[in-house]
Amino acid sequence: MFKIKNLTYQYDKKRKALDNINMDFDSGEIIGIIGSNGSGKSTLFNNLMGILKPTSGEILYKCNKLKYDKKSLYNLRKEVGIVFQDPEKQIFYSMVYDDLAFALRNIGTDEKTIKEKINKALNAVNGEDFIDRPVHSLSFGQKKRVAIASVIAMENKIILLDEPTAGLDPESTRAIVNIIKSMNKKRIKIVITSHDMNLIYGICDYVYVLNQGKILSEGSTEDVFVNYEVINEAGLELPWLVKVNKKMSLPLFRKEEDLYNYWSKNFHGNLKK
Ligand SMILES: Nc1ncnc2c1ncn2[C@@H]1O[C@H](COP(=O)(O)OP(=O)(O)OP(=O)(O)O)[C@@H](O)[C@H]1O
Ligand SMILES: [Mg+2]
Repeated sequence: MFKIKNLTYQYDKKRKALDNINMDFDSGEIIGIIGSNGSGKSTLFNNLMGILKPTSGEILYKCNKLKYDKKSLYNLRKEVGIVFQDPEKQIFYSMVYDDLAFALRNIGTDEKTIKEKINKALNAVNGEDFIDRPVHSLSFGQKKRVAIASVIAMENKIILLDEPTAGLDPESTRAIVNIIKSMNKKRIKIVITSHDMNLIYGICDYVYVLNQGKILSEGSTEDVFVNYEVINEAGLELPWLVKVNKKMSLPLFRKEEDLYNYWSKNFHGNLKK
């Protein structure tokens, strides 16, 4: 998959948006990239998609250096899908159906299969009702779900999700989490950025912490999050289950249910519904 070697990216001469980044996406199955506003997450994704070209360093996909001619980018984007932070950037057609069909038509999918894939993908994001709606009539969160449906329909091998749940209500957020888990079961590699530390802690197995364009820390999710100083330095917050571990001297739980089961077993008997 992706290997990133000494990647530096500068929008202008003064500052480095990415400063000598090294990453290997074989390190995890669901990889989290966390960092405060302006730390370089979206810039990184744009470099991976070939939308931006590194100022220096290199990006390897399947051991080959990214190439920027039309055909190479077309081949890359057949395998690598992205959900942009801003859904407006993602949507090209005025009707939801046409927008979702666009990329599939581009790769020569027949209309019957396109229809099936679109129905399935919209269903996965609780968005069946959007199918015949004009895109401009959708709310921000609804547009975001259409953008996520578009990568589901494409069945890419690797999916970059830039803040996929920002601005979504709890039900849609749960739907997205379920989609991520089921895509992971199908061995699709997911790389996700988010400011929601609980979300990252809950689903990722490997995490990179970005700060001002540099990698401040990386490792298994537990190892990264138990290091409070690093999380603090990056301007982030600990997931609540890590706070419970630190402040109440309880074991480190990965899931809410693990905490309740521990509590029930050790102190209070049955849990309330
Ligand atoms: N088009 C641009 N021109 C100049 N500078 C830019 C441009 N886009 C981003 N930057 C700068 O590059 C740095 C990294 O920005 P980026 O959008 O990658 O951060 P981010 O981690 O995605 O932030 P957020 O959490 O707000 O989405 C920031 O300092 C930002 O101001
Ligand atoms: Mg961003």
